[in-house]
Amino acid sequence: MSNKYILEMDSISKEFPGVKALNNVQFRVKKGTVHALMGENGAGKSTLMKILNGMYSPDSGVIKFKDKEIKLRSPYDAIMMGISMIHQELSPVPHMTIAENIFLGREPSIGKTGIVKDREMEEKTRKLLEDLDIRLDPRTKMKDLTIANMQMVEIAKAISYNSELIIMDEPTSAISEKEVDHLFKIIRSLKEKGVSIIFISHKLDEIFKIADEVTVLRDGEYIATEPIENITKEKLIEMMVGRELKHMFPKEEAEIGEVIFEVKNFTKKGVFYDINFKVRRGEILGIAGLMGAGRTEVVESIFGINKPDTGEVYVKGKKVRINSPADAIKNKIGLITEDRKLTGLFLPLSVRDNIIMASVDRYTKGEFIEGKKVDDACETMRKRLKIKTPSLDQIIKFLSGGNQQKVLIARWLLTYPDILILDEPTRGIDVGAKAEIHKLMVKMAQQGKAVVMISSELPEILGMSDRVIVMHEGRITGELSRGEATQDKIMMYATGLAKNI
Ligand SMILES: Nc1ncnc2c1ncn2[C@@H]1O[C@H](COP(=O)(O)OP(=O)(O)OP(=O)(O)O)[C@@H](O)[C@H]1O
Ligand SMILES: [Mg+2]
Repeated sequence: MSNKYILEMDSISKEFPGVKALNNVQFRVKKGTVHALMGENGAGKSTLMKILNGMYSPDSGVIKFKDKEIKLRSPYDAIMMGISMIHQELSPVPHMTIAENIFLGREPSIGKTGIVKDREMEEKTRKLLEDLDIRLDPRTKMKDLTIANMQMVEIAKAISYNSELIIMDEPTSAISEKEVDHLFKIIRSLKEKGVSIIFISHKLDEIFKIADEVTVLRDGEYIATEPIENITKEKLIEMMVGRELKHMFPKEEAEIGEVIFEVKNFTKKGVFYDINFKVRRGEILGIAGLMGAGRTEVVESIFGINKPDTGEVYVKGKKVRINSPADAIKNKIGLITEDRKLTGLFLPLSVRDNIIMASVDRYTKGEFIEGKKVDDACETMRKRLKIKTPSLDQIIKFLSGGNQQKVLIARWLLTYPDILILDEPTRGIDVGAKAEIHKLMVKMAQQGKAVVMISSELPEILGMSDRVIVMHEGRITGELSRGEATQDKIMMYATGLAKNI
């Protein structure tokens, strides 16, 4: 009788300096199934997958693939055996085309000359994208793609190896609902062909939609494996956080005061038009919309990253000139960007440096940085946000994805902004930490600050906002009070089917 498991990982342990990332973990995937791997930020999911992909070698443990014990020395080994991986952190080569990225390191070439057959490569890519119904031109440069499309290319690349086991580490954290549906279609057709998928995501709805089985890790320990029909959302959360989580959206009342932030007539041709909104003290304003509606571009223009064609910003009734992020910070505006790796984090620097970066001035006396004060401030943030790191000296690139996001939030909280703008603040963040970040937003509002939150997750928008504005194709199409807002109404405005402005 053949084994029903395609993969069996047993007693896997892995230690990094100061961190026991995995302790005696077991992980078994049945042939032709979608297996979700769940756990809080830093639980060890990516580490386990990087071991399976040959990037890390385990300190101990056994890996059996198709009933045979295997040793993986590199990702190349893994691919040759039929295991490929979509990484959590995208690493496209920006100046290369889609085709070049997909065939990187295995370009079809003419004999031994090394001359790449560009045509052939493009043709193969075109066929691959077509089969997956991904509508992109193989000759487009990676740098010209949106993050969502880069992710789709990454997915296509992993599939192009014709692997029997595909690991997807948070493939949906940067794509819209439509693209998630598309990905799920691809996953289902792979499954029909007998391919097994390991799927990592912090979005519980997705897990219940696509997974056959789920394995939970907590703090590097194996907790359990269950068929999806045997568990509920509540049960799954409890398995992940080790306790019951009562309030998913801990919104509390704050006293709403005068307008302290106003955006007037913001237009950038081809991107957004006529953007007008006000935010009051104590208010959380949600900006809803589909991905690509122009929300990120608007807040980046407010913050001085891009220049709008026209438009004015008022802080506490005074018109302010913002030509750069430094100007925005001076006017007490903070922005937590949606893509931490491209625009937020300095990967080779320490956790401390990354936290302190935007508020160094406050901790400088003459020429000296006051180390003790810096450490105290960072330590407070580390505790408040429960940032999982062995020390403040740790280089940030070694933190798990969700913990990197927390560092970014810590940075902006330390600038004590009056207006805090958060662009998809809880993307890639586990349920427990998500509630922590929401609590912080409430606290800021209660301290009389204005909070602006862009989110593509409707439950988050509905759960946290006092007021919601909705964007569609670069324009504001709707505004709803907390009492009026519903998923259906927001979707009508977000898809352009209705308008109330
Ligand atoms: N190369 C590394 N060097 C040092 N520590 C590491 C390294 N990679 C991971 N870690 C640590 O190991 C632990 C597990 O991290 P891992 O990335 O596997 O978590 P995760 O479950 O994928 O979390 P997330 O949901 O945030 O992506 C974390 O504490 C992390 O900081
Ligand atoms: Mg991870």
